Amino acid sequence: MTEPAYLHATRAAYDTVAADYAELLLTELAAKPLDRAMLAAFAELVQPAGLGPVADLGCGPGRVTAHLHSLGLTAFGIDLSPEMVAVARRTYPDLRFDHGSMTALDLKDGSLGGIVAWYSIIHTPPEHLPVIFAEFDRVLAPGGHLLLAFQVGDEPRHLEHAYGHAISLVAYRLSPDHVAEQLSQAGLVEAARLVREPTEREKPSQGQQAFLLFRKPEGS
Ligand SMILES: C[S@@+](CC[C@H](N)C(=O)[O-])C[C@H]1O[C@@H](n2cnc3c(N)ncnc32)[C@H](O)[C@@H]1O
Repeated sequence: MTEPAYLHATRAAYDTVAADYAELLLTELAAKPLDRAMLAAFAELVQPAGLGPVADLGCGPGRVTAHLHSLGLTAFGIDLSPEMVAVARRTYPDLRFDHGSMTALDLKDGSLGGIVAWYSIIHTPPEHLPVIFAEFDRVLAPGGHLLLAFQVGDEPRHLEHAYGHAISLVAYRLSPDHVAEQLSQAGLVEAARLVREPTEREKPSQGQQAFLLFRKPEGS
């Protein structure tokens, strides 16, 4: 099957920036207490349920996977970019990182206790998101949780430079209401959402940031 052009472009861009992205964002979560609060709540919900490991989908350099591990979760990462996977494996040699795409996960039905997709659905054209959300629903165990992070807005950003490199990549800003509606259509139910204002460092290029926490209903 031919790969959609947006997947090819996303992989090429992140292969190019992987090492510099990793260095720049290594400690970024430390300055974001509200983001960490959502990850901590996710961990508190997922761990006692004991429904399976957590997949950090679109894990990039693995910093969020490592944070989930530090919160006591059994977490592993999957990313489209082989360079990102290589950086993650080098940085966190004790954690598991696989190469793959959220559009077709090599995971069994109902095998995950949780999914985190931290700024990783943002390069998927919004009309293709239902395919990914159907995959999330398929691989989550009933009672499992999903945590999504993304930038709020309606205008896509066309990136020609990032992290010191020339690239060609689109970053979509999304409506929390619309994403929530798409997740509901995939069979997931909303548990909570946070929309926060940009930090000083985010402000020049970014607006509000959204964090959606959803659950796959028991018995589904
Ligand atoms: C903005 S980075 C975020 C990385 C990481 N979650 C973090 O917060 O540091 C987006 C990541 O999502 C990955 N990605 C985008 N689309 C993907 C897909 N369909 N499947 C797997 N990974 C994907 C990219 O390769 C990239 O590493």
